[in-house]
This record gives sequence, structure tokens and C-alpha cells, in this order.
Amino acid sequence: MKFNQSNIKKAKKYLDKNYCIGVPTETVYGLAANAYSNYAVKKIYKLKKRPISNPLIVHYSNISDLKKDCLINDNFLRLYKKFSPGPITYILNLTKNSKISKIVSNKKNNLAVRFPKHKIFRKLLNKLNYPIAAPSANISTRLSAVQASDIKEDFGNKIKYILDGGKCSIGLESTIIDLRNKPRVLRLGGLEVSKIEKALGIKIKININPKKKIAPGQSRLHYSPGVPLRMNVVKPKKYEAYVLLNKRKNNHPNFFYLSKRSNLKEVAKNLYSTLRKIKNKGYKAIAVEKILNTGIGRSINDRLKRASKF
Ligand code: TXA
Ligand code: MG
Repeated sequence: MKFNQSNIKKAKKYLDKNYCIGVPTETVYGLAANAYSNYAVKKIYKLKKRPISNPLIVHYSNISDLKKDCLINDNFLRLYKKFSPGPITYILNLTKNSKISKIVSNKKNNLAVRFPKHKIFRKLLNKLNYPIAAPSANISTRLSAVQASDIKEDFGNKIKYILDGGKCSIGLESTIIDLRNKPRVLRLGGLEVSKIEKALGIKIKININPKKKIAPGQSRLHYSPGVPLRMNVVKPKKYEAYVLLNKRKNNHPNFFYLSKRSNLKEVAKNLYSTLRKIKNKGYKAIAVEKILNTGIGRSINDRLKRASKF
């Protein structure tokens, strides 16, 4: 992993000057900027070509910083103690005195917040005196970036700096849970919902495809590899790249493997990079083998389903 103190210093310098930079998290890379600065946050929307109506997640290093901007509650405390830092994002109400830029959450009085686990990003957050607004570091509707080279591919030299933290260990975006009233999940992701249910001792409503969209990430147009994709494929067509769960004996050039032994965590970690690789090799279509819909497999299938609506 290419990382040292001077890289963190450099990243801080750019952020202090209100530039956007790429940052590693355990889920996917983020396109980061000072969440207290309208000027910096506007740059995120512009670079990503993201509609201003689609709010951003704000990243904090600890709960005492969060309390300056958000109202917390019992459910939050329980989940925070158990799962943060980690791949879970909470929707909370803003405090009256919050300094968060109004364009982070489209002038609404709530905010999506996360405590990332990636060591390098945490080191950086600890040095800043503002939280970091960061959506996934990709052009809107496309696949999230899971390594520094993915960001370069999408943005070229439009981004001043990328803090390289190696390949993301989880590879899927965080699970989003709205905690303002009765808890409900708005996006499946890196943390399994069953674990959240266990921690809160209740069954949680999953609201990922509502008629009225709350989070634009719920849109079917998200997470597209840029070429048509089919799921649950037993027999691929000749021209399709065939994405498989594990290595096979007959090693056909159109076959791509997500894991050595069908380990779903490994599958998640390799999913986006494999789809990118296939697209870059020039394939015009992708077929994916059936993936078990349990545990993290649910989140993987959620992304594939959206990708298949391209
Ligand atoms: O793992 C992750 O969550 C990554 C890393 C970088 O932290 N971030 C990420 O951000 O996936 P983004 O912007 O690609 O997806 C955030 C999703 C969007 O679908 C957005 O609509 C939703 O969160 N969101 C943000 N703020 C919200 C809010 N206040 N209420 C409801 N949904 C919100
Ligand atoms: Mg995104």
C-alpha cells in the first residue's frame, strides 16, 4: 500500500484549500471535500455530474464531532457502539447550529453520516477540523471506484490528488439506515441487515425500492458497468463475458472469476473491479452466474439487479 505521513499531509493541504480529492474507505473510494464549505461541496456535484437533489454522506472520525452537527438517539448509540467505524451510514436530524453546507443534503434538515474504518482515511480525518462530504468516487450512475486507478479512469486529471489506500476490503457501499423515526433500511450494503436487526432486537423494514424515492441511490439506473448485464445465467452467449463465483477447470477466455472458493465476501470485494475490467476489455455484454441471496449476497444481488436495468 502506497502510504506515508507525507501523503496524509498532502491530502490535508488540498482539502484545507477546498479542493476535492480521492480518499480510500473500507467500502469504496470517496470523492472528498470539506463538508462545511459550500464552495468545496459544489465541486463534488460538478465533478461527478451529480444532480444537486441527490444528498451526500458526511464522514466523521468520532461521535463528539458528530454531536456538533446532528441529533443522536438510542438506536443510533446502540448501532454506533456495535458497528462504527464500519460500513453503515445513519440518517439523523441536523442540530440548529450545524455548520454543514446546505447543499450537502439539499437544504433538508437531515444528514447521512458515516464513520469509516479505513486506517488511512481515519488518520486523515483525525487531522482535520471539519467533517468530510464524500460520495463514491465515480461519475454518477456508474460503478463505484474500489482502487485509485478506477478514479483516474473516471476523472483523469480533473482531481487534484488521490490518497492511495490500496484496494477496498469490502468493495460494496455502506448499508444506509434511516434512524429518525422507526428504523428502516434505505440501501443494502456492506453490513448485513440481519446483524442490525439482532443489535436492535427488532425486525427492520427494508425500503430500497419505494414508489417515492428517498435516496437517489435507490434508482435502478445506479451502479451500471456501461454495458448490458444479465443475472442468474446458466449458459452464456458466445460474445458475453461470463462472471463466475469460483474457478473452473475449463478455463475459457470469456470466463472471469470473483472468488477462489465462492466466498461471498471475496465476491463482493472483486465485483466492481471485475465488471470494470470486462468493460475495458471491450466486451459488449456481461452474463453473471447465480449468486446465493443470503448474507452479503443480498447486497451483491441488489447491485447486479440495478446494473442489469442499463
Ligand atoms: O460506502 C459508502 O457509503 C460510500 C463511501 C465513500 O462512504 N459512499 C457512498 O456515497 O456510497 P454515494 O453518494 O455514492 O451514495 C450515498 C447514498 C445516495 O444514494 C444518497 O441519495 C443517499 O446515500 N443519501 C445521502 N444523504 C441522504 C439523506 N440525507 N437522506 C437519504 N438518503 C441520503
Ligand atoms: Mg454512489
